[in-house]
Amino acid sequence: MINNNLGAKIAAAAEMILASRRLVVFTGAGISTESGIPDFRGPGGIWTKFDPDDFTIQKFLKSEETRKKQWKILIGGDLFSNVNPNRGHLAIAELEEMGRLDCVITQNIDNLHQKAGISTDRVFELHGNMQWVRCLSCGERYPVEHIREKLKNGVEVPECEICQGILKPDVVFFGEALPPEVLDAATAYSRHCDLFLVVGSSLVVHPAALMPAYAKEAGARLIIVNIGETPYDSRADILIEGKAGDVMSKMVQKVREGQ
Ligand code: APR
Repeated sequence: MINNNLGAKIAAAAEMILASRRLVVFTGAGISTESGIPDFRGPGGIWTKFDPDDFTIQKFLKSEETRKKQWKILIGGDLFSNVNPNRGHLAIAELEEMGRLDCVITQNIDNLHQKAGISTDRVFELHGNMQWVRCLSCGERYPVEHIREKLKNGVEVPECEICQGILKPDVVFFGEALPPEVLDAATAYSRHCDLFLVVGSSLVVHPAALMPAYAKEAGARLIIVNIGETPYDSRADILIEGKAGDVMSKMVQKVREGQ
């Protein structure tokens, strides 16, 4: 592990990207805080204000009261409307433009990697995406804005307009299985890469947090860019404590200079 100053670490990480042939970038909520979206476990994060146990799929299905509370938090609070990619997202999109990115595996549901310009077939959203709301009975899908308007007009628990079934944001709740085709693809890319770059994740939620382990098992090098510790810090080839937007824009600038 390279244990020297920030600039040297960023330069070393850029060298690893230049030498890599199969780069996977893995992101968490920490890459989106600079876009105004709170993370979960950092200072002031969502789970410091709400109880994650309230966000299980079991509770969501069991009571209308729970659904009312969750709709209010998830969509009523405008959590994901009018948010834009920041320098961290744009730096990763530039790696794709340079032909240096195999894929992005993200735990985020904010659609910001796609908004930053990354091809949708190169973004694997392990926990779904807040852009859509789905009926659990008939499968009908609604754009989240359509449901947000209903909430703003006083509907507390929106129902399916086709069959009056329970609607749920197209994201993975605790206790719910991850979309199998996405998990399989993310696992395959992680097992096949030669460089695995983590940006803004505490790496504590499974099975998402198994991805860096798969990469290390495959002999890949591991770079972690994060504010705060992760369980993988001792296995990182380069550990960079810093803000994602600042670090990633400097790193990609070094890659551009080294081309
Ligand atoms: N730059 C770098 N790191 C940051 C920044 C930033 N600007 N802002 C926050 N961080 C760090 C935090 O300190 C924290 O260590 O990013 C990490 C985010 O960790 P979490 O909040 O746990 O988010 P994440 O790892 O994505 O959580 C995984 O948990 O609750 C579930 O489904 C939810 O997808 C989420 C999953």
